Amino acid sequence: MSKILRLSVLGAGTVGGGVLTLLRENADLLQAQTGKRFEVRHVLVRDLQKPRAAVPDPKRLTADPQRAICDPRVDVVLELMGGLEPARTLIRDALQAGKHVITANKLVMAVSGDELIRLAHRQGVRLLYEASVAGSLPILNALQGSLAGNRITRVVGIVNSTTNFILREMERAVESDEPAETAYDAALHKAQENGYAEADPSSDVEGYDAQYKTAILARLAFLQYVPLESIYREGITHLSGRDLLWAKRLNMGLKLLSISERLPDGRLCARVHPTLIPRECPLYVVRGAFSGVWLQGNGFQEMSLHGFGAGARATASAVIGDLIEIARHPKPLKIEDPSLRTGETAPIESLTMRYFLRLVAPDEDALRALREPLQLLGAEFQPSEPLAQGVEQVALTPPLNEGEFQTRIARLRTEATVQVIRLL
Ligand code: NAP
Ligand code: HSE
Repeated sequence: MSKILRLSVLGAGTVGGGVLTLLRENADLLQAQTGKRFEVRHVLVRDLQKPRAAVPDPKRLTADPQRAICDPRVDVVLELMGGLEPARTLIRDALQAGKHVITANKLVMAVSGDELIRLAHRQGVRLLYEASVAGSLPILNALQGSLAGNRITRVVGIVNSTTNFILREMERAVESDEPAETAYDAALHKAQENGYAEADPSSDVEGYDAQYKTAILARLAFLQYVPLESIYREGITHLSGRDLLWAKRLNMGLKLLSISERLPDGRLCARVHPTLIPRECPLYVVRGAFSGVWLQGNGFQEMSLHGFGAGARATASAVIGDLIEIARHPKPLKIEDPSLRTGETAPIESLTMRYFLRLVAPDEDALRALREPLQLLGAEFQPSEPLAQGVEQVALTPPLNEGEFQTRIARLRTEATVQVIRLL
């Protein structure tokens, strides 16, 4: 590879813009780190008329993907567009054309990562995707590098910053007696303005983004194929200010967690759902637009990382880390195509855990009828409280089997509002 590394950047939005800015601001540092100069040859966008402060030379802009992919002088293609197609096809084309590829695209890596990783290997080029999970956190590198000699038993993460930001803003509203629902809307808007949210933010709030990231994390942590459809997914749209108020009263934090773990019977269980965590959990302090990952393994025991999980500069930091890696080591490494097990996965219904329950009924009599079967399961209730409409009561359960518990709750839900949040 020559002293110049030539790049095609596909996308000049939040992440692409951040990468172009950091490449310019840190050009001397990057040269000192790698002995190479990075030269941006093409920047692919849809709208050529849009003003773009981050693009140094408007002549580099193109709306023609083939121009950006097929230029024989280009060494590395950075896919920072998002979405499944045409991003996946362009990554494939770039690898087939012998280019190294860096992507921040968790959807593509969750759905087609295995195929693309094998293709990169066959082509003798590198495909790196650190920015696809938890923004600036070097978690994928850690799993493939310094931690690779451990048997990982559990990975628990706050891997979606938009929802963590929204939950924090709802918590603040509850603390100051303001409506949490208004805070939800305002926080989502702010997350979009700050560039944290996906182009379609339902991917964030419905838990899809976290599900994609869980598939990538679990694959690298457990060296096992983890089909997306085997990962249970629940977002944050059904949470209310009352849930955050109760979390505070119970001395817990409410987070959207990604949890993947090896069960004692050898199966792998991966899931995404809102979870109440105790104050002692390392992820309790991970607030706002931060992401965090807490790992357990048989050597290091436990470890946690946290930092900005989204936004232009934080994500660009991870993309540029991958670029430095390619500049230093352009040959593919064996670790990027490890032999994966096709082990069994376990559905969430096979787990046993504790639950927070919030029942809302028209009156005390209705509440009593709901309470009785739950008390038989060992649920411990707080005193009931009147609401503007109806009456509310919350409980914590002892460890129960998810499958059996959800069947019982489904019956109660025909009679009243029942909120269920799992405990870590
Ligand atoms: P974004 O702000 O919406 O930017 C997307 C860019 O790609 C825009 O410049 C857009 O062009 C261009 N683009 C999209 N589709 C195109 C097409 N078909 N042809 C040509 N250009 C196209 O998105 P982003 O937030 O930067 O996210 C990019 C990727 O990074 C996504 O995979 C996302 O999940 C991932 N990611 C984002 C973050 C974050 O904090 N935002 C963090 C980690 C990973 P126009 O400007 O002309 O519309
Ligand atoms: N929308 C994503 C998030 C971007 O909020 O975490 C980072 O992957």
